[in-house]
Amino acid sequence: MAEEVSFAVYRYRPGDKPYYAAYSVPVARGMTVLDALTYIKENLDTTLAFRASCRMGICGSCGMMLNGFPHLACHTQVDEVRGKGKKIEVAPLAHFPVVRDLVVDLGPLFAKHRAVRPYILEAGEGEESRQLPEELERYLQFAYCLKCGSCWAACPTAATDAHFLGPQALAQAYRYLADTRDRGGGTRLALVAQSEGAWRCHFAGNCSKACPKGVDPALGVQLLKRALVRLPAKKAVVATAVSSAAKKEAG
Ligand code: FES
Repeated sequence: MAEEVSFAVYRYRPGDKPYYAAYSVPVARGMTVLDALTYIKENLDTTLAFRASCRMGICGSCGMMLNGFPHLACHTQVDEVRGKGKKIEVAPLAHFPVVRDLVVDLGPLFAKHRAVRPYILEAGEGEESRQLPEELERYLQFAYCLKCGSCWAACPTAATDAHFLGPQALAQAYRYLADTRDRGGGTRLALVAQSEGAWRCHFAGNCSKACPKGVDPALGVQLLKRALVRLPAKKAVVATAVSSAAKKEAG
């Protein structure tokens, strides 16, 4: 039987003052937060804006703050986030510009993702890209990233430093660094060697708690630091010099 649950939903239109609107939603067992938001939109307030597409934790569109922590709304049941009898506060993903209501601009995340060149670099032409299963295992978990922004929204460093490359981009830099088919390690290490790169991470570990796909970006960043420490001294100097150009690209 459905039970009424209270939702406090962040509302914002450009030019207006943001506020929280209260809604009461009949929640049946197994209902997700996305189902509840859809109920609100269809039955209580058609003006509510939120983003969703696949409804199955694949596209990464529906990231939002639920009681102060990032979640995918389609991947989170109401019962998981509400305490006994408590209401659920729904807000846009933290550390991103808000477009409207629960919709944020993920542009800064994508710009940083692009900056680490998230593709195989400099593989020889016509070269066969063979890879052993154990080589695939070195980076496979990082390849599950949805680019939903949850790790970024949970990161205390991203909260205070807009130039920080962030857990998503850094984990992807490691994903390609660890790929035996890739020859672009030097370029990426130069990028992550910058002051707003891997060393800016304080290893709070929130990014790994927030990832809905079980990726461990905090581990990726630590592995990047290890790769940087192992760089021969001469290369490390070059990496630091190149990093200022790379920083510009990351915005
Ligand atoms: S709607 Fe695609 S991940 Fe939630």
